[in-house]
Amino acid sequence: MILSPSLLAGDFGRLAGELEALEAAGISWVHLDVMDGHFVPNLTFGPPVIKQLRRSSKLFFDVHLMIENPERCLGDFAEAGADLLTVHVEATAHLSRALLEIRRLGIKAGAALNPATPLSALEHVLPDLDLVLLMSVNPGFGGQSFLPLAYDKTRALKERLIRASSTALIQVDGGVDPEQTALLVLAGADALVSGTAFFQFPPYAERLKTFMAAAEENKQGGF
Ligand code: DX5
Ligand code: ZN
Repeated sequence: MILSPSLLAGDFGRLAGELEALEAAGISWVHLDVMDGHFVPNLTFGPPVIKQLRRSSKLFFDVHLMIENPERCLGDFAEAGADLLTVHVEATAHLSRALLEIRRLGIKAGAALNPATPLSALEHVLPDLDLVLLMSVNPGFGGQSFLPLAYDKTRALKERLIRASSTALIQVDGGVDPEQTALLVLAGADALVSGTAFFQFPPYAERLKTFMAAAEENKQGGF
């Protein structure tokens, strides 16, 4: 299981320091939530901030674009140093084009689904995906409660990916804590995003251990 802490819950006054602390704690991915004030009712940061952070960090930049018409600025995010760009299927009329463009830029391509969006929205793009992000809250804010519908959706997506011989990872994002981690990994999740439940419980190395132990426990208990 890959744990991708969401920097949205970190200290915005010292973002570079937070990334350094994550790396020192043994974390490999960091989740960067980009919000445009249109697709979601909140604003965060864009390519210039990511570019600055890239200079001092070797972490895998897992960039979640909660922006309308993401195809307009995929190149800017790739150039800034994103390793994975995830676009929302609800935010573009040309999902397939956006995914192909991300891969053409030489980085990993992901598609995100809001809680109310069915898996069928991905039907024709499965071969173009490196990751599917299932939202377990309505996007826009950190610290919201996990929506349990994500368990069944994860299970159904896992089956669908296996049927399609897809190697895309399943990521779940929103309100995830160690308790949900155990059940989500059992349901088939490969990568989990955690903001509040991660950053509010330092030291980060210990918190990482708690999440990883939850993921492992369940694997052993479940199969
Ligand atoms: C929600 C974001 C999530 C969120 C995760 O719009 O996409 O990444 O910030 O934070 P928690 O774990 O606090 O829900
Ligand atoms: Zn996110």
